[in-house]
Amino acid sequence: MPSQDLTPVPPAPDTAADTAADVAPETWAGVHRGPLRAGEWVRLTDTKGRRHNICLEQGKRFFTNRGSIDHDDLIGRPEGFTVTSSVGGEYLVFRPLLSEFVVSMPRGAAVVYPKDAAQIVAMADIFPGARVVEAGVGSGALTCSLLRAVGPHGRVSSYERREEFAEVARRNVTQFFGGEHPAWQLTVGDLVEALPGGDGTGTVDRAILDMLAPWECVDVVADALTPGGIVCVYVATTTQLGRVVETLRAHGGFTEPQPWETLVRDWHVEGLAIRPGHKMIGHTGFLVTARRMAPGEKAPTKKRRPAPGAYGVDYQGPRPAGLPPAVAEESYDD
Ligand SMILES: C[S@@+](CC[C@H](N)C(=O)[O-])C[C@H]1O[C@@H](n2cnc3c(N)ncnc32)[C@H](O)[C@@H]1O
Repeated sequence: MPSQDLTPVPPAPDTAADTAADVAPETWAGVHRGPLRAGEWVRLTDTKGRRHNICLEQGKRFFTNRGSIDHDDLIGRPEGFTVTSSVGGEYLVFRPLLSEFVVSMPRGAAVVYPKDAAQIVAMADIFPGARVVEAGVGSGALTCSLLRAVGPHGRVSSYERREEFAEVARRNVTQFFGGEHPAWQLTVGDLVEALPGGDGTGTVDRAILDMLAPWECVDVVADALTPGGIVCVYVATTTQLGRVVETLRAHGGFTEPQPWETLVRDWHVEGLAIRPGHKMIGHTGFLVTARRMAPGEKAPTKKRRPAPGAYGVDYQGPRPAGLPPAVAEESYDD
């Protein structure tokens, strides 16, 4: 779906004056309840599944290729209804979900898609009150999921080295939550330089990396994480995957890294015609998690021998401790 220039919605009246200490956690979920109000975004979906995001304004009219719809016909109604345009086109009206918002919001950089954000929240065990470090912020898509999971009493410290992307993220996150989320701290800077002075050593519960060269951040993240903390890395390519896994292994202060990916396939279900859908969300990226050991502790080394040639003379990356030296005859051709 094409992205649109969504300008920030002013804070909802029930959140503007609140602080983290006195708001109910659901206030910072980015969810509005009750009748649709002017200033809110709604999503109109036509009978072919085409979607339009509009910001409601009193007296305004929305034009489609199937006639027009007056915003005033939507304002004041509870979401979840069908509106008919001036020429009889039918549109379903709902407030956008987080998973819908992140794929249609303005982008500075590629976003983490909802299928991966869900995996990150679950498998990196992001919990209410958690202290999370995130880099890079990009467009702020993952940030929204992290903030939702930690709630107003947690902390998401986000680092982004490009000022212009940080600005896009700030607008997106503020728009989604309807104001400045009390748990969010956005720092413009490179994680490797900014993290050591930013978040206290050994106090971070979870570190999430989505960037080109996450292996460069392994040392600072290891210093920032609390024992038992989790590092979770999202990478797009197999070469990045190999390098970050080997760097985590070679560091020695993490458990064996766990790499995986998810593929999502929808299904067609109609009477006796039940079959996989024609489209699927295939490769988006790979995820890796590892847990931080206590200071001075090492995880047991893997008992299984590496595959022949895995660390042979052609392998140029970081070498985990305890490997026999590379020998010329070890190769994938053996
Ligand atoms: C793919 S984008 C992140 C997308 C983001 N997770 C989202 O869901 O919208 C990668 C970002 O990492 C930033 N970046 C790369 N290396 C970085 C570093 N060492 N410290 C901070 N930001 C970094 C880039 O500028 C870029 O904006």
